[in-house]
Amino acid sequence: MNEEQNGVYQHNYKEMNLEDLKKLLESCEISKNQKKKILKQIKWIESADSRRELRKKRKQRYKEMTKQSIKDGTYSKRQKLEKITTRDNFDELHHIAIDLSFDKLMTNKDLRKLGKQLGWCYKENRRSQHPVQFHICGLQDRMRSHLDPSFTNWDVHFDGNVFESFPKEKLTYLTAESGNVLEELKHGMVYVIGGLVDHNHKKGVCHNLAEENKISTARLPLAENVDLQGRKVLTVNHVFEIILAFCECRNWRDAVLKILPPKKLSSNDVTSKTNENHCDEVQKSSEHVDEDFSNKLLTKDLP
Ligand SMILES: C[S@@+](CC[C@H](N)C(=O)[O-])C[C@H]1O[C@@H](n2cnc3c(N)ncnc32)[C@H](O)[C@@H]1O
Repeated sequence: MNEEQNGVYQHNYKEMNLEDLKKLLESCEISKNQKKKILKQIKWIESADSRRELRKKRKQRYKEMTKQSIKDGTYSKRQKLEKITTRDNFDELHHIAIDLSFDKLMTNKDLRKLGKQLGWCYKENRRSQHPVQFHICGLQDRMRSHLDPSFTNWDVHFDGNVFESFPKEKLTYLTAESGNVLEELKHGMVYVIGGLVDHNHKKGVCHNLAEENKISTARLPLAENVDLQGRKVLTVNHVFEIILAFCECRNWRDAVLKILPPKKLSSNDVTSKTNENHCDEVQKSSEHVDEDFSNKLLTKDLP
């Protein structure tokens, strides 16, 4: 139930039941921050019934729509997705690598979050009209245990250490601290995202690592395209998805607006996000990735 962090035992609220959470809430030893987290978890548990109800309704609606489309003669079975991963034509394809060499810098909770973010990246790439070659580099045991169990069947490249798997001149490490702005995506280049969830506590780790290895770096053109609210350091899945969206529309503003959640944007940008279609007709944001990520979706829907 507890996880050690900096020598202090922390409660893992997600694994506690309602009764224990309520007891803990009454304890006078908890901080404001802990209280907030406990209340959030209580709310999550207490809303289980309504979430179940919603799922039921969604299933029912889907069944009715399928029935109707069979009646109308418009029903078509979901097509089997084609394999994306290939070792051919390296220089003609776009490549994104996630550098998973930071296991030791993360708590189990952070690894769990990163596992979900990777699953999200995988799903989005699998569904994209313009998928990239997705390289998972340097997967280690701790991270492995936090990935969706279906990951061994994922249609991705499992490579070794990122710096040893590609020629250095083919690598560009994406870092928020870089002095270079990413303007284009070049075929045959591997754009590396640091697989790190650190809540901004370990500033510059990936940038320093890239410099030590004499790899070129670049930051996403965020400030050039939107009025970003809060940190310029994005999550792994947001960076991945912005690049994926850019592969579709070749326009950074549209890609950034499509992917970033409203809370990261100014009110003007939120208005453009909601009023215009960015990159494709389906408007979506992956801001729910932490809360509402469905592992079932990954294992069931994707080969
Ligand atoms: C949550 S961030 C990790 C932050 C960490 N403190 C570090 O040292 O990079 C995860 C990764 O996303 C990428 N990233 C985040 N924001 C970015 C930005 N604005 N431009 C380019 N890459 C970014 C970087 O590769 C980064 O390592």
